[in-house]
Amino acid sequence: MPSNDWGKILIIQLGVGLVGSAVIDEVLRRAPIWRHRHGIALSHWAVADSSGFVIPNDGERWLAPDTLADISHARRAGHRLASFPTFLPSDQWRRVLEGAILSAGSADRVIVVDCAVGHATTEMLLATRATGAHIVLCNKDPLTGPMSQFHALRRLGTRGTLRLSGTVGAGLPITSAVMAAAANGDAILGLRAVASGSLGELCSAMSRGDTFPCALHSAVAAGYCEPDPRRDLSGHDVARKLLILARLAGFTAELADVAVESLIPPSMESLTRDAFLAALPSWDNHLRERFVSARESGSVLRYVGTIDADGSLRAGLSETRQDDSLAWGKGPENTFMLRTTRYDHYPLVIRGPGAGASVTAGAVVSDILRAAGML
Ligand SMILES: NC(=O)c1ccc[n+]([C@@H]2O[C@H](COP(=O)([O-])OP(=O)(O)OC[C@H]3O[C@@H](n4cnc5c(N)ncnc54)[C@H](OP(=O)(O)O)[C@@H]3O)[C@@H](O)[C@H]2O)c1
Repeated sequence: MPSNDWGKILIIQLGVGLVGSAVIDEVLRRAPIWRHRHGIALSHWAVADSSGFVIPNDGERWLAPDTLADISHARRAGHRLASFPTFLPSDQWRRVLEGAILSAGSADRVIVVDCAVGHATTEMLLATRATGAHIVLCNKDPLTGPMSQFHALRRLGTRGTLRLSGTVGAGLPITSAVMAAAANGDAILGLRAVASGSLGELCSAMSRGDTFPCALHSAVAAGYCEPDPRRDLSGHDVARKLLILARLAGFTAELADVAVESLIPPSMESLTRDAFLAALPSWDNHLRERFVSARESGSVLRYVGTIDADGSLRAGLSETRQDDSLAWGKGPENTFMLRTTRYDHYPLVIRGPGAGASVTAGAVVSDILRAAGML
């Protein structure tokens, strides 16, 4: 996309929850600055929740800033987008995509930003890539379907781009490091990662001697967990992140190939969320022995995701020496240690906040600017 060309770039945003609302706020705040600096006006053409899209009024080429601010406020107040007068149900996504391309003047001036959850956005994303428009994702699910779908979304060497820095490490430069190594022939020898903010906080608290229920409550209270914390405890989220990194590194793998250790206490998988939270105090001793034994041997336990040189993938609790970089991260920090032919004896270590709506929205906005040729 030409960066010095005056023009409009239109965003279709899927998902307006914690991250999506923060993205809208940031675009509203920064758009005048980008316009002044780069001569490019970034505007939203449509915003969607799971029920459907809000699009511009007839004759308008994008959503007015006031409408966008109303959308963000309405969602924060718990209202659905269906109450907006220019609402289109979600099965009308083709019409929304074609409308954006028409209004922008060409597909390469359209960016579909997926801040939703789940696989339901995938069909629209695939169609978007086929037009030559851009995609920015923080939703991991479309990238963790079958390998063929991953390739179809990436479409390397074709028009348009796929940006995904918000999917792993909330914008920490690990996805770009892995992609660069794979592209320039620097063979990946292995990756070890603490890649979950919630499990990082849980393990830090239990290493200090907190019980499992206490440690989980502090991770929930800090806002690091999914509404049902078992989604974090299952290790599924770490497995999805590992799979994305492994695929970017050039390995062929499916989600089922990741060997995952679940930290959900036995028999608590099938309870309702409320029953699970109510029964938690009876699991005071859950995992305690493993944390105590690690401490007695001078180590700490961390929930570690691993990619081996042969592409095998696993995620689970691992005893880590106190001087290991993976043991240093505090609370929700993520740490990635990448070993390649060039970074062998001294691995590349990337550490920083790897969860939270604000840093994730920052990653999404940076990817929008990259897709728009402004970064
Ligand atoms: N929060 C973080 O720290 C973080 C960090 C990294 C990555 N992420 C990823 O970022 C994404 C958003 O996270 P979040 O915390 O903002 O989640 P959230 O608060 O639960 O918001 C999800 C949003 O997606 C919408 N949605 C669901 N299905 C949709 C569909 N098919 N089409 C359009 N919109 C749809 C939801 O609408 P309804 O309310 O109508 O269902 C809601 O607006 C997730 O995929 C998450 O894994 C989050």
